[in-house]
Amino acid sequence: MRFHHTLLAIALAAIHFSGAAADAPKVAQKATYKVGFAQTESNNPWRLAETKSFQDVAASCGWQVIFTDAGGSAAKQVADIDSLIAQKVDLLVFPPREDKPLIPAVMKAKKAGIPVILVDRDVDHKLAKPGVDYITFIGSDFIDQGRRAAQALVKATGGKANIIELEGSTGASAATDRKKGFDDEIAKNPGMKIVASQSGDFNRDKGRQLAQTLLQAHPEANAVYGHNDEMAVGAITAIEAAGKTPGKDIFVVSIDGQRNALDAIIAGKMVATVQSSPYFGGISCKTAQASAKGEKIPTWVKVEDKIYDITNAAKDIAEGF
Ligand code: AHR
Repeated sequence: MRFHHTLLAIALAAIHFSGAAADAPKVAQKATYKVGFAQTESNNPWRLAETKSFQDVAASCGWQVIFTDAGGSAAKQVADIDSLIAQKVDLLVFPPREDKPLIPAVMKAKKAGIPVILVDRDVDHKLAKPGVDYITFIGSDFIDQGRRAAQALVKATGGKANIIELEGSTGASAATDRKKGFDDEIAKNPGMKIVASQSGDFNRDKGRQLAQTLLQAHPEANAVYGHNDEMAVGAITAIEAAGKTPGKDIFVVSIDGQRNALDAIIAGKMVATVQSSPYFGGISCKTAQASAKGEKIPTWVKVEDKIYDITNAAKDIAEGF
């Protein structure tokens, strides 16, 4: 519990203000709230930690939270949000699984006068705007995460690598931006080449299967970049199954800061993982309270991330989830 409070304090200290809210429905002033939290899927530690952070904060925030689970389907997430709107929740909080299919859900909530806070992933700003159509986006800078993963890989490989990139779910802002940040940084290094880049849907077993196929197709590959730890851990299994040694024949970097990735770093099988905090419950509560008080909410409540490598993975192992 004390650990979670510490994390919350760190996250809150890391909030940056980068814009001003305008017309989006605001949170009403009430003693207690019925809040809808529409999760994308629950098949990995990151998602479970995110959901738990809302369960943990609910009572102290005066929230009665109705949880839904879209099981990895954007269409189901839209239907789940429709149902939460029909139940007349006071506030909707959700990570849009993909950046365009969830636009109708944001717009329907706005039309119903229900305030929306997007967490972790964002929607396409050409189609819906923070501050106008929803209160704000709370989350990491995914482009910067990709850039830092690339920098760690450049350092580990001495600037010479043939890279397999395992992308996240197609259309997810986390995947689009992590690819952009990484690819742009890699392009600055003439000795670094991305030999293959395909989606493994942020899923461990899909990541393992994809890595297996791509390692066979590209025997020259000596590096893997996973858009999340689950796929990177799957890739490590594939690398070992192919008779190669992760950390020696093939260098692996990824994003999240999961416990299994920190273990892999300590074991010398992974170079680094850029943190991507799943703990959105506390920041969402604070942001909703600020909205209820009529305070100006920034259009992006930015969460700062650290990086885990061999210098801190063992020391910070308790931060893994
Ligand atoms: O949107 C954040 C990403 O989604 C996390 O990196 C990943 O593990 C999760 O599924």
